[in-house]
Parts: sequence; C-alpha cells; structure tokens
Amino acid sequence: MSVFNERIDRFKTASVKWELTKDIFGESDLWPMWVADMDFKPPQAVIDAIKNRVEHGVFGYTFVPSSTSEAINTWLLKRHQWKINSSWLLYCSGVVQAISTAIHSFTKEGDRVLLQSPVYTPFFDMIEKNKRIVVNSPLRLDGDRYQIDFAGFEKALQEGCKLFLLCNPHNPAGRVWTKDELLKIGELCLQYNCLILSDEIHSDIIYKKFTHKPIASLNDELLDRTITLIAPSKTFNLAGLQASAVIIKNKELRIQFQEQQKRQGVFSLNTFGIIGMEAAYRYGEEWLEELIDYLQVNKDYTMQFLADHLPEITCIDAEGTYLLWLDCRKLGSSDKELRNLLIQKGKLALEPGPKYGPGGEGFVRINIACPKDDLIEGLERLNRALS
Ligand SMILES: Cc1ncc(COP(=O)(O)O)c(C=O)c1O
Repeated sequence: MSVFNERIDRFKTASVKWELTKDIFGESDLWPMWVADMDFKPPQAVIDAIKNRVEHGVFGYTFVPSSTSEAINTWLLKRHQWKINSSWLLYCSGVVQAISTAIHSFTKEGDRVLLQSPVYTPFFDMIEKNKRIVVNSPLRLDGDRYQIDFAGFEKALQEGCKLFLLCNPHNPAGRVWTKDELLKIGELCLQYNCLILSDEIHSDIIYKKFTHKPIASLNDELLDRTITLIAPSKTFNLAGLQASAVIIKNKELRIQFQEQQKRQGVFSLNTFGIIGMEAAYRYGEEWLEELIDYLQVNKDYTMQFLADHLPEITCIDAEGTYLLWLDCRKLGSSDKELRNLLIQKGKLALEPGPKYGPGGEGFVRINIACPKDDLIEGLERLNRALS
C-alpha cells in the first residue's frame, strides 16, 4: 500500500487548508481542495533531519551552509540537467517574497511588468501592490491545451516591459513549456531587453512524457538575463518551512537582488527551513518518484470521473503540478452561481477561476494532492454540486 494513502488529521496544526477554509469561504464543513499544499508527509529523511536538529536544542542564528547549496546543485543537475555554480545562489523565505524582492530590485514604480493570464494570483498582487503596471499577454486555449500567443507577447514587449514573470510549469494552465516555446519567449525578451523572472516552483512535479527545462539553462544569453526561483515547498510539501532559492548567474543582477534583501533586513533563513530544504534535495528523489506515480493515478481517476459523471466539464490535462484546471463554461453558470453551488450544494472549497485574472472566468482549480479516498470524497461533492 502506498504511503500516500495515509489520511492525516491536519486540524490543530494551524493548517491554512483545513482550518482557514471557513473564514475564507464563509461556510463551515467544506471539503478543502483549494490552496496548493499536499495532505502528505514529506520524505522520512526530512522529518528525521528536523528531529535531529530539534534534539540538539540550541537555536541561535544560522546561515545557509555550503552543504545546502551542494544539495541544490546536485538536484538541479540530476533532475533538470542544469549545472549551476553555488555562488549564483541566494535564499528567500518564499517564492512570493522573492518575486516581490525581484520587482523591487529590477524595476521602479510605474514600470511595466509582463505576465500571462490566467496565472497564480500573487503575480498580479506583487506587481500592483508595489505600484508597477501589469501588462498581460493572455494564454490562448486551443482545444484543451494552453498556448502562447507569440504575436501578442511581442506586442506586449514592444510597450516596454522591464520584467517578465514566467510561470514554468504554469499554474493553473498545467503546461510544462517546451524547449522551443521557451527559446522563442527568451529570444523575444532578449530582443526587447526584458529581464526574465522564472518561477519554477512546480518544476519537480512533471508527469511522464513531459520534461521541464529551466529557461536559464537553454543558452548563455538567457542564463545572463534570467532570475530563477525554485523551492522544495511544492515538491516535498514543505511550504510551512518557508525556504526557497534564487538563482542569478549575472553578478550585477545578483548584487542588486542582494542589496534589496539587505534593505529589507533579510539575511538568512529559518533554521528548520535550511535543514528541511537540504534533506529534501539530498534524500528525496525516490520519494518524489513515488509521489509522481501517485499523483498520476489521482489525475487519471479525476479525468475519468469527470468524463463519466460531469462530461460538460473539460479538465485541462496537466503536464505538471498537482492542480487541475476545470473548464466549467459549458454549464452556463456565472462564477457566482458556480461558487454558490460548490459551497452550498457540494460543501466543497475550490479555487475560483477569476482569481487568476482574465481568462479564468468559468473555471475552477482543484488540488488533487491528497489520499485517494479524500479525492473520491471531493469528486463526489463536485458531482453533487454540479450534476
Ligand atoms: C507559481 C507559484 N509560485 C509561488 C507559489 C508560492 O510560493 P511560496 O509559498 O514559496 O511563497 C505558488 C503556490 O501555489 C505557486 O503556484
């Protein structure tokens, strides 16, 4: 039996997913399949490493040791065939924090920052809350697969964007961008002198037949103009440890980022974030392979369930991530009606599509990273709500 079948009670752990659902959705007893964390324990080696550190008992200031950067280097080389140098690495407590720091480091108020909607909500927030201007080049849904509208992308760059927030793999579109797509995006960004901020937080959860390519790994010019963000938080379910890594080859850009961190008073990571991150990258590969197999089964089950019970809903077949994007437009309900049906009739909490910007209307996002029995419970509620 898979370790991922274990149902773990997450109440009384201040879990956002299980204990804030009522506050956020305004109703009690909802089944939570919204926020992007998993209901699984991380690899045992991560738990053991943290336990060992707890047992030591002294928790003074810590720095990120070279053993952590070595574990990251080895991981990137093995999983993504990308050879980086430890000196390119900086650390942040979260990828969203790193996005904000990058926006501050490389743009000024009023500058234009490019993104591709529908996309992870904080992309919009970090641009707007920092008084920069969102320039959107929406993705195009061709059949049931999202594509980049390259003509629109170039037009957006011609408006003079300073920074492009790439989401690879894409949340919520589920695309793992191909090498050709990335090269084309990259070429345009270089042509119009737009830096690339590549959020690759989902890069380790990739389904068979697909390959993640870090855009910075494709050629030297892109390496020089890209800031890459990675983290063990999605891969190993360590979001609560708040640790992520920033990879910047270009020394000038790296110093700019570092100076911004110093202005913000950011100097190191939480002790347990460091320990967890290193153990995960060093020992987590076998666990990850099992996880991907488990998620593949959950994904196949979900798609089959929808085809059998709710054929009006089109599930965008994710190439990576444990987040499925459901096209509910054929149901003919407004987003408000959809939300009410899900909450009141289904007692189910899903992410509403409009949160992801233009192109999200009529969609919902469901998180399938849970034990199979819990997935079935959620899908039955979905069926009750929408059939
Ligand atoms: C694309 C993307 N970036 C960043 C994050 C969150 O990163 P962090 O928790 O490290 O701030 C998420 C979480 O869902 C995400 O989907």
